Parts: sequence; C-alpha cells; structure tokens
Amino acid sequence: MPFRYSAVGKKLSARVGIVELMEDLGEAMSGADAGTMRMLGGGNPAAVPEAQHLWRRRLTEILSDADGCDRLLVNYDGPAGSPIFREQLASCLKQELGWDVSAKNVAITSGAQTAFFQLFSLFGGPDENGRMQKIVLPITPEYIGYADQLLNEGEFSARRPRLELIGDHQFKYHIDFDNLDLAEDVGAVCVSRPTNPSGNVISDDELTQLRVLARQRRVPLIVDNAYGQPFPGAVFTDASPPAWDDNLVMVLSLSKIGLPGLRTGIVVASEEIVDRIAAMTAVVGLANNNIGQAVAGELLASGELLQLSREVVRPFYEQKSQLAQSILAAQFADSFPYRVHASEGAFFLWLWLPELPIPTRELYERLKQRNVLVVPGEYFFYGLEDQSDWPHSRQCVRVTFSQSEQTITEGLAEMADELRRIHESR
Ligand SMILES: Cc1ncc(COP(=O)(O)O)c(C=O)c1O
Repeated sequence: MPFRYSAVGKKLSARVGIVELMEDLGEAMSGADAGTMRMLGGGNPAAVPEAQHLWRRRLTEILSDADGCDRLLVNYDGPAGSPIFREQLASCLKQELGWDVSAKNVAITSGAQTAFFQLFSLFGGPDENGRMQKIVLPITPEYIGYADQLLNEGEFSARRPRLELIGDHQFKYHIDFDNLDLAEDVGAVCVSRPTNPSGNVISDDELTQLRVLARQRRVPLIVDNAYGQPFPGAVFTDASPPAWDDNLVMVLSLSKIGLPGLRTGIVVASEEIVDRIAAMTAVVGLANNNIGQAVAGELLASGELLQLSREVVRPFYEQKSQLAQSILAAQFADSFPYRVHASEGAFFLWLWLPELPIPTRELYERLKQRNVLVVPGEYFFYGLEDQSDWPHSRQCVRVTFSQSEQTITEGLAEMADELRRIHESR
C-alpha cells in the first residue's frame, strides 16, 4: 500500500549512497558472496590481535564482577553518558593533550555518526527567523556519512581543495583559503582530520587558520577525530591535535580502534553544546549503549588504550598503508595514468584516475562483477555549487587498506586488469 510519507521521512529513508554502501558491505561480509568478495570498500577497522585480546580481557573482567555487571545491564545511563566514563575521558584529554576540560564537556552518542546528525541538526537548517544556516565543509572530498544527514537541501556549502601534484604518482589536497570566505549564513564549519576518504591530514597551520575564521564568525569548528589522536591515533604525519578552546567541537569514536559494534561516539565541546547534545539524546533515544564506555573507560584510566594506540594501532595502519602503496605501484605500474593521495592517516588509499573514460560508479559495478568492492569517489564530493567543470570529482576511488595482504593484492590486481582493459578499449 502506498503510504503518505513526510518530506523529512522521505529524505531520511531515501536510497542514498550510504544506504547502498552499508548494504553492499553487509552483503559482502555475511551474504551469499561472503568469503569470495575482496572487500576494499567500507570503513571497518582491521582485526588487530592485540586489540581484540584487550577487549576480551575487559569483557571477562566485567562479567566476573557480578554486581557491577548487573548494575551495568539493568540501568539506563544519563543522556550525556556514564559519569565515570565522562570523567575518565576528560582526565585522559587533560593529561594527554593538556585540555582544560571536565566531565561536563563530554557527551556520549550512539557512534560518531549519530553525533554528526545531532550536531548538524543543532547548527544547520533554518533558524527561528527562517534564515538558512549552512554547514561549511572547507575542503572536499569529505566523509560520505555526512552527505545525507541534513534535513534541508543545500545546507552544505563545500569548497574545492587546492591540488598539489607530487612526483609521477602522488598528489595532496590543501585547503584553498582564497576561496573560503565564511558568509553570514554559516552555522558551523566541519572537517574530518584525518580525512575519510583521502587520507589527508590538514596541517596544524590550516587548522589554526580555520579556528580563526570560525571564531571571527562566532560559529563552532567541528573536528571529526574518528581516526585521530589520542585514539586510535591513525595519523602518520607529525600533525598535532588542536589546543582546547570552547569554540572547538571535537568528535571521537571507539569504532576505529576496534569497537564499531559497541556504537560509542564522544562529543567534547562547551558545556552549553554538551547539554544540548544530551537533551537531543534523551528525546531521540533516552540514553546510549553503556558497554563501550565500560570496556574503554578502565583502559583509558590505566593508560592501556593510549598505549595500544601508540604502540600497536598506529604502526599497524602505517605499515598497512605502505604495503598497500607498494602493491598498488607494482600492480598498476605505468599501465595507465593514476595518482594516489599522500597517505597521512585513516584507513584508505584515495586513487585518482585522471584519464578514466567511464564514471567511477560504472567502474564500481564492473569491479563488483569481479568480486572486488571499492567505493566510487563521486559520493564524497557533495555540497559543491557546480562540479560540471571539475572532472576530478568523477575520477577518484576509495580503497581500504585495513584488510589482509591477500585481499589487497588480489583486489588491486583485479582492479589493475580491469583498468587496463578499459583504457585499451577506448
Ligand atoms: C570520518 C568518519 N567519521 C565518523 C564515522 C562514524 O563512526 P562511528 O559512527 O562508527 O563512530 C566514520 C565511520 O566510518 C568516519 O569514517
């Protein structure tokens, strides 16, 4: 029966890029093709044995404390999260980064993804007088997961980057500050650092300039730190975390260090913003999952989580990145023009195929036929005014390096073969 859906309902339930992507990932990991699909799509963290060992140990500790375990399971958290965890997190940020924050600056969300929905709803869209407030993305490509979270069309205002070509096969994006005047209609500025999909880490200097611009406009600067420091710390450059001030909204996650199933995101912000996020959580979901906080809190307090990040997780992904780059160089050789973005952080190689004669969505379909899953780059270039004169936005592909060496090698070999065929048949 054709029901009458609301405009917001239709927008949020449309079959958009992220829905398709999540379904493909789910299918690849558990569906009929599980085991045969080379999974180079998706943002899953790798199975890192030391991390898995730590999670199992913590879960065993939780289970063996019968009273504590019962209390954990039988109680709702407050909407801002567990007071103990918020305290543990604040102390960690104070100690590790020198931030002057307390538990009152911390709100838990159901994953960072939900944090962004809450933050964008808070700062984007029409204000009380009907004037549209925009979320400015100072550099694209930007994380696909934001793209469909705004309830009104045209709320994102994204900017093209400046491209630096490095050698024969590398490139890097920089924020184009000449093209970044923050107009009066800005509600917030948002950037992921490290950036998913490109692996870019905007420099300390770029971050400082963004902070100045946001402060001048009296809008918050939201930094998506899902891959950043202090955990999981998948940053391969010497970029430092920002200093704290209450214009900054820092979003962290337990997902990328290895706990995506526990759906725990963390917003660190001014008390005013934290109170609003907590109120939104109460309205939408009462409270959030408390298991992630119970697992990670003690490990934050003991220093083990940060030790894991520094000594295991960061080197693990850096090595994975280097390995994937050398496999890529060997497989692609000089068969066709390609460049890869400087891999400065996160879990992905971002490929630019400047003479690709077909859209990357078509390349995605062709690779899927060969049991290789990548993510077509078009999805990451939203919020731009006009892309028709910017072929680059149709020539990129995201490939994860968090999978096994065999998967990466086979996947990139298939991709190289398909690309050679495409270029030869032109
Ligand atoms: C840049 C970025 N931000 C946020 C998220 C959301 O993470 P989660 O909701 O699992 O905490 C992801 C997940 O892939 C991401 O890549």
